Amino acid sequence: MASRTSFLFLAFVWLALATTALSLTPNFYDKICPQDLPAIRKVVQAAVHKERRMGASLLRLHFHDCFVQGCDGSLLLDSTSSFETEKNARGNLNSVRGFEVVDQIKAEVDRVCGRPVVSCADILAVAARDSVVALGGPTWKVLLGRRDSTTANRALADTVLPSAAMDLPALIENFKNQGLNERDLVALSGGHTIGLSQCAIFRNRIYNATNIDPAFAKERRATCPPAGGNTNLAPFDPTPARFDTAYFQSLLKQRGLLTSDQALFNGGSTDKLVKTYSSNPKAFWDDFAKSMIKMGNIKPLTGKQGQIRVNCRKAN
Ligand code: HEM
Repeated sequence: MASRTSFLFLAFVWLALATTALSLTPNFYDKICPQDLPAIRKVVQAAVHKERRMGASLLRLHFHDCFVQGCDGSLLLDSTSSFETEKNARGNLNSVRGFEVVDQIKAEVDRVCGRPVVSCADILAVAARDSVVALGGPTWKVLLGRRDSTTANRALADTVLPSAAMDLPALIENFKNQGLNERDLVALSGGHTIGLSQCAIFRNRIYNATNIDPAFAKERRATCPPAGGNTNLAPFDPTPARFDTAYFQSLLKQRGLLTSDQALFNGGSTDKLVKTYSSNPKAFWDDFAKSMIKMGNIKPLTGKQGQIRVNCRKAN
């Protein structure tokens, strides 16, 4: 009987330890390097002060990292002889940006910590939060303890990153494959309250869509001609440097920039939530923060898995 009890006790302890090792925690670096979070915030604030759009670009990096084999910093790896960089994937090429800022953050964090103890994957998660805060949005406690992958997967990135041409069922399915529900989809799409997009990506919508405000289409066509001007930029909403509810208000007026934006308010199951967020910043902020934490939990490497990269661009 005694040995059965001690066996059960040991099994319980083992299970507790095993699950602790697997889950992320906000206090992960408290003992190893308590200066890490202020260091990241400082570099992000400086970068956003220099160029407001950088906050949007850093937020997007965390999203594109997490959707491809989990939040493991794989997006940051450059090509090697054994794999091609995810930076070349359809949704990333000539589009994702901010890698120099990530390098700066990494250098500063390693300097204040005295050695490389903070993962590139965690840096992306914290930089995303700090960017949202810097642009006037909500804050949340970032869960930490992710480790970095040693490989990247361009082919996977091509298949799992959502495209701007997706309709609502495709978007719902895409997010479901990552363990994210419709609420997460709408809340996280609210990330488009900051940042810009290129003409080549929204051209088809502004010339051919029927679910678009004609005055808005005309306005966008002025800087996005039928041919040429592919890299000309336009904001997702009228206040691209402010984390507000203008993105959702635009959707109500059929002024969504991408097909995938307007799909969230197009007579389908997500209409109601778009309406709620458009008039209730607190509801949007609370849900955005919750969904960011959920997205940040996608398949992290923890414990002895992966590594802490010395250089975010290459495996050690
Ligand atoms: C729902 C599916 C989504 C699709 C189809 C999508 C697609 C896109 C596209 C096509 C762009 C513009 C790229 C360019 O013109 O070069 C973009 C930009 C952006 N996306 Fe998304 N996105 C989605 C969800 C998200 C999520 C979940 C977030 C973050 C939580 C996010 C954050 C951003 C930001 C901040 C930008 C602007 C980046 C900048 O200005 O550098 N997006 N997205």
